[in-house]
Amino acid sequence: MTLKFSQTTATPDAADVDCAIVGVFEDRSLSAAAARVDEASGGAIRRLIDSGDITGKIGSHALLHALPGIKAARVLVAGLGDPRKFDGAALRRATRDALAALRNSPVTSLASWLTELEVPGRDEAWKLRIAALAADHQNYRYTATFKSKDGTRAATLKSLALAGRDGAHALAEAEAIALGVRFARELGNLPPNICNPAHIAAQAQAFADSHDGVTCEVLEREAMQALGMGALLGVAQGSANAPKLIVLRWNGAGNGIKPYALVGKGITFDTGGISIKPGAGMEEMKFDMCGAAGVLGAFVAAVELKLPLNLVCIVAAVENMPDGNAYRPGDVLTSMSGTTIEVLNTDAEGRLILCDALTYAQRFDPQVIIDAATLTGACVVALGKHASGLMSADDELAAQLVAAGEASLDRAWRLPLWDDYQSQLESGFADVANIGGKYAGAITAGCFLSRFTNGQRWAHLDVAGTAWDEGRKGLATGRPVPLLVQYLVDRCT
Ligand code: BES
Ligand code: MN
Ligand code: ZN
Repeated sequence: MTLKFSQTTATPDAADVDCAIVGVFEDRSLSAAAARVDEASGGAIRRLIDSGDITGKIGSHALLHALPGIKAARVLVAGLGDPRKFDGAALRRATRDALAALRNSPVTSLASWLTELEVPGRDEAWKLRIAALAADHQNYRYTATFKSKDGTRAATLKSLALAGRDGAHALAEAEAIALGVRFARELGNLPPNICNPAHIAAQAQAFADSHDGVTCEVLEREAMQALGMGALLGVAQGSANAPKLIVLRWNGAGNGIKPYALVGKGITFDTGGISIKPGAGMEEMKFDMCGAAGVLGAFVAAVELKLPLNLVCIVAAVENMPDGNAYRPGDVLTSMSGTTIEVLNTDAEGRLILCDALTYAQRFDPQVIIDAATLTGACVVALGKHASGLMSADDELAAQLVAAGEASLDRAWRLPLWDDYQSQLESGFADVANIGGKYAGAITAGCFLSRFTNGQRWAHLDVAGTAWDEGRKGLATGRPVPLLVQYLVDRCT
């Protein structure tokens, strides 16, 4: 369940909520809302600034209880940092930090006036969307496998009112996107023994069953064999969990209009196969289906928004395991396109399932194909965990995706796909090798995919660094759902 969003024109002293959030800058200046609370409470905020308890530093906060003259039982004073640097990212951060500070509190209803703050170049609708999504992101709890404890891990916070006047549409949009982000995060976080290819297929089917105008088709191994998907099936052959090719369709624009195609890498666990990965951190490879989760989440949001476009979402759901029947380094696979591939490393499996999914996507005669994949560690080395890697031979499409990333604060950064890199994929035994040597690994992976998208308007998002937070408690982020939804919304205006 997402937070219940609403907008409010109430002043923070008069709002009937468990907690009101107002902001103070690090130069000790008060936001209008903080000034209002200060005045109504007889100077409570100024006194705490003078005593040094409130600093206004970004990320800091003070939680004040039972202020005189204030209806809410609590006021959270959020630090806003330097007023000259206050931007959309600061609004998002201050909102997330405020909710984090309330994480273990009994607060069920919250209202924030941070959306009243001026953000250069952004309108009210934008601020409401970003703040609502930031709050819902922070309020998400993974609970599915904590069966031994009672429900205490569930979030107590239920509703969020944001200061605003014309934001009803923006909040409806935020709710749809939040649903998509949650859909993606939950699939990502589930353990790989639960979230296997059949589970993803069942979730897609359940979504289609519960939403008018959505159809779901799941291709089984035999159907993929008939189509000649030798690359995808090569990866799948070492796993007891059968592969699924999931096709969701939304016809928001009616018949005869070319769809947008989203294609996702859904490796539900990546051991590396016979080219097995080292043990340390291997559990993180349960997140190797986050590209699939991302395109599914974007699909969910697009349907919830009833976007007036046609959309097809194709997920290759496969497990990459070592086994007596597993594919080997040296194997030559024949892809659905007919291109033969020499496997030089069974851990470069994502591109092998995607190449057949990309070929399959072309039968829908799409106007654009965008794939999302946790494809390479090299992309994480290149860009870290802040930007997804974006590759496309189409300058206009690349620019649109970069812009969508900026607008949604879910950024992507373009890497080149020049032909110069293609020679790294040469093979002595097949049309192409599945790895490109030690340099430019993110790009050579993109180059590999490009060989299966000839003549298409296509872009590739490598989300290996952005789709989850590292470490023992690292959760799926839901990226690139916000970017993809923004891209689709932008195509409708
Ligand atoms: N799923 C991994 C990529 C990955 C690694 C994502 C680490 C996030 C964190 C992918 O299947 C993989 O193993 N890629 C190899 C490619 C190599 C064998 C050319 C890699 O990046 O090492
Ligand atoms: Mn791999
Ligand atoms: Zn992988």
